[in-house]
Amino acid sequence: MYKIVEKREIAPRIKLMKVLAPEVSRKAQPGQFIVLRVDERGERFPLTIADWNPKDGTITLVFLEVGVSTRKLGELNEGDTILDILGPLGNPTEVRNYGVVCVVGGGVGIAAAYPIARAFKKSGNRVVSIIGARSANLLIFEREMADFSDELYVSTDDGTKGHKGFVSDVLKMLLQKEYGFNMVYAVGPAVMMRAVAEVTRPYGIKTIVSLNPIMVDGMGMCGTCRVTVGGRVRFACVDGPEFDAHEVDFGELIKRQTAFIQEERAALEYWEANRRVSRGV
Ligand code: NAD
Ligand code: FES
Repeated sequence: MYKIVEKREIAPRIKLMKVLAPEVSRKAQPGQFIVLRVDERGERFPLTIADWNPKDGTITLVFLEVGVSTRKLGELNEGDTILDILGPLGNPTEVRNYGVVCVVGGGVGIAAAYPIARAFKKSGNRVVSIIGARSANLLIFEREMADFSDELYVSTDDGTKGHKGFVSDVLKMLLQKEYGFNMVYAVGPAVMMRAVAEVTRPYGIKTIVSLNPIMVDGMGMCGTCRVTVGGRVRFACVDGPEFDAHEVDFGELIKRQTAFIQEERAALEYWEANRRVSRGV
């Protein structure tokens, strides 16, 4: 059992939780994730570790409430416990001095980009970050990203803050201004990572993405998280989660991510109906 020691809603439907998980916090490295199960009837799902503190034994998780599992997690409060946390899982980010690194974070993926930007900065890189959300009120971790970025660009789809448009548009603009990035790292929705890959491809810039397919065991045994990279089948949980963006078959990834969308919607409706009954509303 893993105790929640802090819980905050940092944007509509986006929650931050600090959880007591001393073993995980001691071993966590940038780019790694955990697989959790809220309760005995819960499904297993992955969340990137947004931060960790070995001194107080906590890890920080940031998630968007989309389906039953994330809604159930979001309903827990400080003092409540999470049944299982497995991790840290996945290969850590290859952190070294590349020179000038651009870190791109989209939506809730900005929380996952934060430890990456911090690690690149601490390794002596010049870090240029681009973060974006649909609207200003959904923009998270702006101050945290600013703390470890030499330059920070903000975009919103609706233009309520920063540049109007996608993070990939800002990246394109910077590359046209001849920003010499030695490496680009992107994390966020698959469509965003695909767009980033297409922006950097003509420039031949090394581009790494953190993939988030559906996962079950997180240990390379069930095959749920398979992705095609460079024409080869890879398991994101043990071979990734980070891969060369120019080699990823994003079309297949997006198709697999949305394969259970109807079942997920039905499960959410069923859960909400049961919840209304149990609350007598
Ligand atoms: P969102 O749909 O609000 O999009 C966030 C930003 O991504 C947008 O503001 C835009 O700048 C960019 N974007 C979106 N669509 C784009 C497109 N077609 N072309 C170019 N750029 C585009 O994001 P959300 O609802 O917060 O979802 C975040 C996603 O990040 C989820 O799918 C989640 O699974 C994923 N995620 C991944 C990881 C990881 O480790 N890989 C970690 C956390 C979250
Ligand atoms: Fe089962 Fe990766 S989640 S193999």
